[in-house]
Amino acid sequence: MSSIALRTEVPGPRSRELAARRAAVVPRGLVSATPIFVQAARGATITDVDDNVFLDFAGGIGTLNVGSTQPEVVDAIKNQVERFLHTAATVVMYEGYVRVAEALVRLAPGQFQKSALLLNSGAEAIENAVKIARHATGRSAIIVFSHAFHGRTLLTMSMSAKYSTYKAGFGPFAPEVYRLPFPDEYRDVSSRQAIEAFHEALYEEVGADKTAAVVVELVQGEGGFLVAPPDFIAEIREVCSREGILLVVDEVQSGFWRTGRFLASEHYGLEPDLVCLGKSLAAGLPLSAVVGRSEVMDSAQPGGLGGTFAGNPVSCAAALVALDLMERPEFTLRAQAVGEIVRREFDRWHQEIADVGCARGLGAMAAVELVSDRGTKEPATNKADRVLRWSYEHGLITLKAGTYGNIIRFLAPFAVTNAELGEGLAVLEAAIRDA
Ligand SMILES: Cc1ncc(COP(=O)(O)O)c(C=O)c1O
Repeated sequence: MSSIALRTEVPGPRSRELAARRAAVVPRGLVSATPIFVQAARGATITDVDDNVFLDFAGGIGTLNVGSTQPEVVDAIKNQVERFLHTAATVVMYEGYVRVAEALVRLAPGQFQKSALLLNSGAEAIENAVKIARHATGRSAIIVFSHAFHGRTLLTMSMSAKYSTYKAGFGPFAPEVYRLPFPDEYRDVSSRQAIEAFHEALYEEVGADKTAAVVVELVQGEGGFLVAPPDFIAEIREVCSREGILLVVDEVQSGFWRTGRFLASEHYGLEPDLVCLGKSLAAGLPLSAVVGRSEVMDSAQPGGLGGTFAGNPVSCAAALVALDLMERPEFTLRAQAVGEIVRREFDRWHQEIADVGCARGLGAMAAVELVSDRGTKEPATNKADRVLRWSYEHGLITLKAGTYGNIIRFLAPFAVTNAELGEGLAVLEAAIRDA
C-alpha cells in the first residue's frame, strides 16, 4: 500500500487560500520549498490541510531523525508541559538541562574533560562557539570555507557563503572572517589545493597567531553535501593543534546519526575542540549546543553566556527521549541501512541518467548534483527547481542545496519504512527523468 495519497491537485484549495493570506502578512524573504500548509505530520509523512498525504524526504531540514511527532517524544513533552514551561536557566536551573549536557558530554568524541552549553538554534551555537574561542585564545580571526552555511545572524551570515541568497543587501558583515577553498573533487578543487590555500592564507594573510578558530562542516549541508576529504581534515587538525587555534566542527546538519554515526567527526577519528549541534537534537523543538573542552568553555566570564530561552525545559525533555531513542543500536543500524539504500539508488541514477553529474555524501546525508552537460558540468539550477516541483505535485517533499541550487539532498526521518523509501525514491527518479 502506498503512503502517498493525493486527493486534490497540489496545492489544494485550502493551501491556496492560506497562501494568499500568508502573502499579505509574511515578508517574501521567508521562502517555503513547497506551497502546501501542514495539518499533521507522523513518522516520514506530512498531511496537508487538503488531506493530501506526502512523503517527507526533507525532515524539517534534518531536524526529525527520530521521526515526526514521535510518540515517546510527544509524551515527554506533554509531561514536561504539565510540570513547568520555563524558569530561564539563567534564573532557576532544572535537571533536564544538566541531563542533556551530561548525555552530550558523554557522547562527544575526545578523551578530555568536556562541558556543554545549550542554546536555541544552530546559528546561536556557532555564535557562541566563536565567542568562546575568541575569549579562550585572545585572538580574533575566524577561518571558514567556501560553500559554508552557519546561519542567518550577522556573524553566522558573515561566515556563510552563497551571497545572492543569504547575504545580498544585508551588509556590512562582521569583520575578521576569512574564507578559504573547501575541497570539491567534482569541480576540480583537490584536497591538496585546498590544503595549500589554507597554509598560504593562514601564514601570509590572516596570521596563525591572530587566528582563534577554524570553523568547518565535515559534510557541508546547505553547501551541497560536499564531504571533506580525510587528509584535508587531518591537516587542519594538525595545524590547529600546533598553532593553538581551536578547531570548531559544525555538526548542526551532519549530527545525530545522519551519517550513520552520532557525529560525522567519528568517521574521521576527529576530536574537535568544540562541536556545534542543533536540528535533530530535540526531535523538532528548538535546541542547540556547543560541546567541547572544559578549559576552553570555562574561559568565558560568568554571565557571558546564555539567553532567555536557551536550553528551555520542554526542548530538554524532548531531547532526552530523542537521545535515548537514537542511542539504541537498532537506530544506528536503521540510519546505516537507509543510507545504503539511498546511496545505491543515487549511484544507479548517476550511471543511468546523464543529468546526474555526481552522487555523493556520507551515510544517509546523500545527494545528487544535477548538471545540464556532463562535460562542462554546467549547474542545472532550473532543472532542480522543476524536480522539486514535480516531486511535491506527485506527493514527495524534498529539498535542494548547493551554491548553485542544483543539488537534490536527502534528509528523510529514519522512521521512514523501506516501502516508503522505495516509493519516495521512485517519485524522485521519475521527477529527475521527467524534468
Ligand atoms: C551546518 C549548519 N550550521 C548552522 C545552521 C544554522 O542553524 P539554524 O537554522 O538552526 O540557526 C544550519 C542550518 O541549516 C546548518 O545546516
